[in-house]
Amino acid sequence: MDAIVSVTRDWGIGRDGGLLVRNKADMRRFKELTMGGSVIMGRKTFESLPGGPLTGRNNIVLTRARDLASSEDIEVARSIDEALALADAYGERAWLIGGASLYRQFIDRCSMAYVTFHDIVLDADTYFPDLDGDDAWSCIGITETDFTERGIPFHFALYEHL
Ligand SMILES: NC(=O)c1ccc[n+]([C@@H]2O[C@H](COP(=O)([O-])OP(=O)(O)OC[C@H]3O[C@@H](n4cnc5c(N)ncnc54)[C@H](OP(=O)(O)O)[C@@H]3O)[C@@H](O)[C@H]2O)c1
Repeated sequence: MDAIVSVTRDWGIGRDGGLLVRNKADMRRFKELTMGGSVIMGRKTFESLPGGPLTGRNNIVLTRARDLASSEDIEVARSIDEALALADAYGERAWLIGGASLYRQFIDRCSMAYVTFHDIVLDADTYFPDLDGDDAWSCIGITETDFTERGIPFHFALYEHL
């Protein structure tokens, strides 16, 4: 399983249940990378998806609640092992797509982390673990700086779990 995330300078990822930064290039890249695979997400991230389940991907939603049932559009898992078994059965690449609680609990089970780094600090209430401060992770590639529609500098960084 690989993680994919969009962060600000202090590893902020969200506020009030939504994303911090709008970035069309990042959205496009997220879609390209995850298309055809399984996307594993927490129940709150699932509920924050503006268009419902992500099309073209096997949506696996982690919840401890009893009232969320599997349907044609999503599979429900009660633990990460159950989620990974569902992804395994699906047979394609598995992605951990958030939110904060899932990243925090399961980043150690990821091989790579695809990080979109925005060079700005915004008021966040949810964070991704600081991979630069973690000896178990190494940044192995960074693209050139680009800018969002609103002029925020960003780049794509790839981290490897050592
Ligand atoms: N910047 C990014 O790339 C990015 C990506 C994704 C999300 N986000 C942001 O992150 C925020 C949401 O993160 P969050 O931490 O509040 O919520 P979350 O991780 O999306 O969802 C939390 C929920 O997942 C379920 N859950 C968590 N751990 C579980 C486990 N071990 N076993 C079974 N179920 C488990 C629980 O659901 P139940 O309560 O139903 O039991 C829990 O309440 C939002 O602001 C969102 O926009 C940002």
